Amino acid sequence: MILDAALWTSLPVPALLLAPDDTILDPNPAAELFLNLSSKALTGAPVWDRVLIDADLEEAFARARAQSSPLFVNDVDVGSGERPPLQCNIQFAPLQGFSGHMLMLISPREIASRMTQNQTSTKAAKSAIGMAEMLAHEIKNPLAGISGAAQLLSMGLRGEDLELTDLIVEETRRIVKLLEQVEQFGNLTTPVPRAVNIHDVLDRARQSAAVGFGAHMMFVEDYDPSLPRAMADADQLLQVFLNLIKNACEAGSDGGVIRLRTFYEPSLRLRRKDGSQARLPLQIEVVDDGPGLPLEIAGDVFEPFVSGRENGTGLGLALVSKLIGGIGGWTSVESVPGRTVFRVSLPIAPKDAQGDDLEGER
Ligand SMILES: Nc1ncnc2c1ncn2[C@@H]1O[C@H](COP(=O)(O)OP(=O)(O)OP(=O)(O)O)[C@@H](O)[C@H]1O
Ligand SMILES: [Mg+2]
Repeated sequence: MILDAALWTSLPVPALLLAPDDTILDPNPAAELFLNLSSKALTGAPVWDRVLIDADLEEAFARARAQSSPLFVNDVDVGSGERPPLQCNIQFAPLQGFSGHMLMLISPREIASRMTQNQTSTKAAKSAIGMAEMLAHEIKNPLAGISGAAQLLSMGLRGEDLELTDLIVEETRRIVKLLEQVEQFGNLTTPVPRAVNIHDVLDRARQSAAVGFGAHMMFVEDYDPSLPRAMADADQLLQVFLNLIKNACEAGSDGGVIRLRTFYEPSLRLRRKDGSQARLPLQIEVVDDGPGLPLEIAGDVFEPFVSGRENGTGLGLALVSKLIGGIGGWTSVESVPGRTVFRVSLPIAPKDAQGDDLEGER
């Protein structure tokens, strides 16, 4: 390719190289991810068939091409057949030295709120967790004293007064539970990644949700049965899926549908800090039809203590992001009212582990 391949693959903005006849010559990985279509499905296809834009810009685009000038279009809804539209800004630029070729960059607005990737918690979040852990530990002792004293007091009380001591005991218990969650967040065990059948883990998560917090929801499985095994820690993965499903259940109304989807996306690569690339071809999505992420926190949901629920601790998604980051995976979210997709992308288990493990279990 004419462009430096590394530059093209690393570009964090969805980008398409367009031929003079408006077909897609080359999509970058960010564009594949954004449009939810593989390079194969995109390359050679007419761009307006693959990228659905709710604005009439073909004419302006033709003019820009004829004049070899750039074109900026702001605030248009961009979708593909595979994904709901998102508001984006689009930039077209002529490719220097290649007459008629255009570069198309799609920048989702509030990119942070639509797709959030959290490999590691930020420094500030880390110190907040450290502080909270220490506090949690320190607060639990006096709380035990308060609760014990209230119980002693309650022995000599009746009626309304008794209700008050019960309230103290009950609320203290709630605080202790919250503190325990904070402590647990700080003390995660190191993962033991091995070849895991994702569908087994998803099934376990779904089953336990369906008899508990998700009893009011409908679950739909949309699995790719040929999906190879993932390299992951099965227990931690279960925790991840349970958290995602629980959030979806809490967001959805009675009878809401939660879709568990798995598929293979060979093009997804993650650049590690050291510059090397990790392939993350296994995709697991938890999709709900609830109201979507609250706008004011949408960009921060993976940060600890960010919650849009009255009784939420805001640790669920921080835990998800921490666990998935710990095994070299990637977590992202896209949310519009009526469709919220949390996606976990995982590395594949090595070939020998695939075979051994399959035989061992069958
Ligand atoms: N599927 C979803 N649909 C809509 N909003 C969501 C969804 N998942 C998460 N959220 C929002 O993101 C917030 C953060 O989620 P997170 O799981 O981190 O914390 P929490 O659910 O509030 O508390 P916890 O999980 O610790 O009990 C939620 O409070 C909710 O506002
Ligand atoms: Mg939660």
